[in-house]
Amino acid sequence: MTKHQKTDAIDRRLCVAPMMDWTDRHCRVFHRHLAPNALLFTEMVTAEAIIHGDLERMLGHDLIEHPLVLQLGGSQPERLALAVQRAAEWGFAEINLNVGCPSDRVQSGRFGACLMAEPELVAECCAAMMGASALPITVKCRIGIDDMDAEAGLDRFIDLVAGAGVGVFYLHARKAWLKGLSPKENRNIPPLDYDRARRLALRRDDLAIILNGGLETTDQIAVEREGFAGVMLGRAAYRTPYLLTAIADDFFAATPPSRQQVAEAMADYADKMTANNVPLHAITRHMLGLYAGQRGAKHWRRQLGEQARLAQDGGGFIRQTVEECEILAARLAA
Ligand SMILES: Cc1cc2nc3c(=O)[nH]c(=O)nc-3n(C[C@H](O)[C@H](O)[C@H](O)COP(=O)(O)O)c2cc1C
Repeated sequence: MTKHQKTDAIDRRLCVAPMMDWTDRHCRVFHRHLAPNALLFTEMVTAEAIIHGDLERMLGHDLIEHPLVLQLGGSQPERLALAVQRAAEWGFAEINLNVGCPSDRVQSGRFGACLMAEPELVAECCAAMMGASALPITVKCRIGIDDMDAEAGLDRFIDLVAGAGVGVFYLHARKAWLKGLSPKENRNIPPLDYDRARRLALRRDDLAIILNGGLETTDQIAVEREGFAGVMLGRAAYRTPYLLTAIADDFFAATPPSRQQVAEAMADYADKMTANNVPLHAITRHMLGLYAGQRGAKHWRRQLGEQARLAQDGGGFIRQTVEECEILAARLAA
């Protein structure tokens, strides 16, 4: 068996997926307060952006976000290697290559999910990235694209990339259909196939395969995680973030913080950020789901979604809203 990087000290049992425009640094701080042991991911950043762009803007983050994975997009081995070299000093636990995104923009740059059809190139990219730093290099991919055979095609893809030394794969358990579906449709319409993902995890039990796609409840996760090194949640972590506390409790026996405690921690963070001219709304927009399904949820959503833009007192606005929600909830319960 080829030597690869499965064994490192990173705990990948619970991961929060990279999501463009959603999992920015403020969102990740929020998720960290909900799940102290989760592995968090940046949004995808292209290799070219890192090579040419403002590193502080793209890679800057708060230490509380650690452990944090940087996700890269690209398909040119030497450019990816250069981007890894530039990013290596920024404190990331791991660097991940995006082989799952189906957007037209990404396809026209010949990276993302269309790379599933080019496993040799992905292997070359990963080898170059490994040569550029000692950080673990991992891949996030789908179970296939278009009419690619989801059995033989996926096996071949994984075997070739693992052959280059990659030991960890985050597997979105549905195909991407590259023609005719929007990225959003590509997250919903191609059917989920957890069994296919599980067969891979069984066949390659020398690798760490992390299951992603459609995971939404603790009961479902308790069943489906069987056979995998971990689970990765995307939309459910964003829309119903308090779910992360229950999963963290199941996985790590982490005492769940209350919603109020999380909100107060975020208020402190907002005080710090707004003092540096970050608009409060840039932080609160990620927190709208904190009270989802609870009494007071509507008030919370409305205040944080609509009124935060007008608020003058940073974290004070969050503290006040959380108090109003708690009073509202107590009144509704009585
Ligand atoms: C708004 C949004 C943006 C996303 N951006 C990325 C991205 O930058 N990189 C990536 O690999 N996947 C991206 N994804 C896909 C997610 O990481 C994940 O694979 C997908 O949503 C399936 O998981 P879920 O069903 O738990 O949401 C994005 C998903 C959403 C909803």
